[in-house]
Amino acid sequence: MDFADKVIYQLYPKSFYDSNGDGIGDLRGIIAKLDYLQALHIDMIWFNPFFVSPQNDNGYDIADYRRIDPRFGTMADFEELVRKLRAANIGVMLDMVLNHTSTAHPWFQRALAGDKKYQAYYYLRDPKPNGDLPTNWESKFGGVAWAPFGDTGKYYLHLYDKTQADLDWHNPDVRREAADIVNFWRDKGVRGFRFDVLNVIGKDEQLVDAPAGVESKTLYTDTPVVHQYIKELAAASFGQEDDSITVGEMSSTSLPNAIGYTNPANKELSMVFQFHHLKTDYEDGNKWTRARYDFDYLRQLLHDWGEGISAGDGWQALFWNNHDQPRALNRFGNIDHYRVRSAQVLAASIHLSRGTPYIYMGEEIGMSDPDYTSMQDYVDIESHNAYAELLAAGKTADEAFAIVHAKSRDNSRTPMQWDSSQNAGFTTGTPWLKPTNQDLVNVHDELEHGRIFNFYQRLITLRKRYAVIARGDYRAFGTDVDWLYAYKRRLNQEGLLVLNNFADHEIKFTIPDDWCGGKVIIDNVPGFQLQPEITLPAFSTVAIYRNDLND
Ligand code: NOJ
Repeated sequence: MDFADKVIYQLYPKSFYDSNGDGIGDLRGIIAKLDYLQALHIDMIWFNPFFVSPQNDNGYDIADYRRIDPRFGTMADFEELVRKLRAANIGVMLDMVLNHTSTAHPWFQRALAGDKKYQAYYYLRDPKPNGDLPTNWESKFGGVAWAPFGDTGKYYLHLYDKTQADLDWHNPDVRREAADIVNFWRDKGVRGFRFDVLNVIGKDEQLVDAPAGVESKTLYTDTPVVHQYIKELAAASFGQEDDSITVGEMSSTSLPNAIGYTNPANKELSMVFQFHHLKTDYEDGNKWTRARYDFDYLRQLLHDWGEGISAGDGWQALFWNNHDQPRALNRFGNIDHYRVRSAQVLAASIHLSRGTPYIYMGEEIGMSDPDYTSMQDYVDIESHNAYAELLAAGKTADEAFAIVHAKSRDNSRTPMQWDSSQNAGFTTGTPWLKPTNQDLVNVHDELEHGRIFNFYQRLITLRKRYAVIARGDYRAFGTDVDWLYAYKRRLNQEGLLVLNNFADHEIKFTIPDDWCGGKVIIDNVPGFQLQPEITLPAFSTVAIYRNDLND
């Protein structure tokens, strides 16, 4: 596997850098900031969608898969960007949203106009004989998963917003279209693909109600046919190159399925995103609640997945942040007292682990959630739906707002903070989403005297230097020590012991004597003493390397 030593940066184009003053980031803005990206030593950039879209779900509602939305630039801009990134040794990963199209997509529009070929692209169903919706499924964005299909009396399925109609992958034409889209971008030199919500493409042909007490997603997530469709897509497109890198976004997936998707023998995907560790601050599994995260549960999940994927020869994406998550610093760190050190612990804990680390735009300078004061500050459709549902469920306006404040996807979508000026140096116009704490965190200050960006640089360099970081196996360590997230990596005679203190207080524990002859290759503890009795201050991290291991 030749991507094990690579690190991927996730860039949200709408919020990165606005070159033309319209308040929205764009491709020329990214070109203008290439030096910054290059300085981080990343290998590939995953771009959130910039295709033609009504933007009801910020580009995940695509109306034309082969054109750049004019808001973001032109195809010439894109080609220039790919060329310049290639010259800088940085690959391009595009976001393929193939579970659904925008209802503005010509396929859906033709279907609405009565074209049978395109009607067969979607899940169109009659209501039940008693007039009820075809099934009792819920949309993942709140409300029901069905909307009237024009005035035909039928309904179409939408697992997300009602402007995102689910495609029927049982139809071979749909699968052919999907491969054609991937191949269109391969022809432009793109070698990376992130597949949106890929494990829900295998809904049954006969859609049935979820039984009482069962969540509808269990009926259509990770069905066996998903593996078959991915194999087929790989063979017809990205699988034809050795250097392609693919990642499937796998909502609520299981470990056996994740191994199945990524074990190289299966010829499916390079890796998957799974989200279990990012649900450890959900009360009773419900995102729209406010709870402190459960460290023991988080650690158990990280170990179960780390060891399980390692033993099954699968591969996972390692990440704390993305455009759908509040900032990890606010969830797992302590931004008031240990902002820098928490950022470093979060970074080290995944960059030294087994899998491919992703850095989400702004994470490398320690960006945190915005301090919004009103629902009007939020743009995201999911946040507004959730707020309305929380009020309807009896929460007060203050309670509902506090929950949205903690959980909104807009928390991570705020503009990149380049400097401390009014619009954070992101735009000369009015930003589409407000930055709020650029005086505290911004690129200019971080590059001058910060300690987060250069910590990421060092971690990325280490992954390339030490094969054990890129390719070693993974084993849990020190699970009896409170607040310690630690693991061992091993490759032949090389070993790495990674110790992370997630608490805002010091912890003490012992390590086997033989590790004391090792070398500390990175830490954030001034004056750290390598001895059997370890003292780790609040939010600190240490990695010890050896190359003298025998069986
Ligand atoms: C997952 C994407 O990451 C999210 O932003 C989007 O809303 C849904 N998929 C639907 O496409």
